[in-house]
Amino acid sequence: MSATAAPVEDGADTTLGIPAGPRWPAWWTTWKFLKDRKAMVPKLHERFGDTFSIRILPGPRTFVIFSDPADVKEIFAADPSQFHAGEGNAILEPVMGSHSLLIVDDEEHRRSRKLLMPAFSGPTMKAYRPLVEAIAKAEVESWHDGDTLVTLDRMNAVTLDVILQVVFGVTDDQRLAVLRPKVTRMVNINASMLLAWSYPGLFRIPPWRGYFKNQQEVDEILFAEIRERREAHDLEGRPDVLSRLLRAGEDDPDVQPLSDREMRDQLVTLMLAGHETTASALSWTLHELGRHPDLLERAVEAADSGDDSFLDACLKEAMRVHPVIDFVARTLQSEQVVAGRRLPRKVTVTPSIMLSHSREANFADAHEYRPDRFLTQGEVAANTWIPFGGGVRRCIGAAFSLMEGAAVLGEVLQRYEVTADQPAPNRLRNITNVPADKAPLRLHLR
Ligand code: HEM
Repeated sequence: MSATAAPVEDGADTTLGIPAGPRWPAWWTTWKFLKDRKAMVPKLHERFGDTFSIRILPGPRTFVIFSDPADVKEIFAADPSQFHAGEGNAILEPVMGSHSLLIVDDEEHRRSRKLLMPAFSGPTMKAYRPLVEAIAKAEVESWHDGDTLVTLDRMNAVTLDVILQVVFGVTDDQRLAVLRPKVTRMVNINASMLLAWSYPGLFRIPPWRGYFKNQQEVDEILFAEIRERREAHDLEGRPDVLSRLLRAGEDDPDVQPLSDREMRDQLVTLMLAGHETTASALSWTLHELGRHPDLLERAVEAADSGDDSFLDACLKEAMRVHPVIDFVARTLQSEQVVAGRRLPRKVTVTPSIMLSHSREANFADAHEYRPDRFLTQGEVAANTWIPFGGGVRRCIGAAFSLMEGAAVLGEVLQRYEVTADQPAPNRLRNITNVPADKAPLRLHLR
């Protein structure tokens, strides 16, 4: 079967092959998917069931969307050499670099992941936590009783400093002051900026010229930081991610360590993947606590006691109700049978995080914010809560962001109680879902 042999039509035969989907022009589906998929995807789920297809430009390419946990499990466990994840992220290559963990597949992915993994393992998190707490504490100390907090902006400031200090290991105040605005500008990539990489002539005119120059400046600083750090004699005593990555592979003669260029690409990737995502998850969590006084009371007690389990549950439930990234994608390298369907090469199979999290069969009263689900043994079944994707491509920063989230919530709630006056609407910003109104919160000093 070829990619064109299975037309996507209303009511198409769904026993084999590409499932049915809307018969809209591809440009319209693409536009709706990019601008308004929070409304579009659930409507299609209602109409076509757990598995359906859409056609997305350029191409158009066929995306098959899945949300049944058995199908999601099958995709996450599938052979990564035939289910490429990096291919779908190629658009980010101009910024992240060709070695980025998010972009590479096959052997290069295996090697890079092996080198990066130890810096993100569970036990390493303890080493990062004191600095994360110090950053959050300094931020909270700048707030005042009665203030209205622009939560998303403040959480972005905290998670940016976590990337700069805990990931890059930059603690010098002057260097931080130079880096902050440059990195903020660099992470703010939108479709029009990426367009310039296909039309390099644009880099000679504003605003692209400024963006490109800024990116070159950040690169220069990162390369200087990498060079300096390679020469440092106290690498073993340094807890930051960059210092750990520089030592990665040193006891394994079969693994080629990361070069400076590879290191730069991974650092930019960590910065882009880890900064706004965690800030959004934290903002949604604080927003939900601000809407639920009973849960806030328990979260405040948890913050005082230093026991993370309830704060962790609050974060996980916020990530469930408001998935920061709402789908992941794998592009087939050859014809494959997925969930009993024969799908041609180049089809993209897409576990929908949004649908998995809102499916009533997966979560009873799915629309309710109820952190206790995560504290009741067996209530959250495997392959239903998937905010970090899964399989060999599962988010490498998952444990990091949960550690960071609990540390920041702890610092905020030890000092303030929060209230949110109204529900925050969702907005898709670049690729992350954020509170459209930045989740304003009123602060009450405890
Ligand atoms: C709430 C916070 C976060 C969310 C919701 C999130 C979500 C995701 C998702 C959905 C993926 C794709 C997984 C897949 O394809 O199966 C991913 C990949 C990735 N994330 Fe995260 N992420 C978060 C925080 C972080 C942090 C803090 C870092 C690092 C500091 C990070 C680094 C990465 C990297 C490097 C990948 C690529 C992994 C690979 O392809 O092997 N993320 N993340």
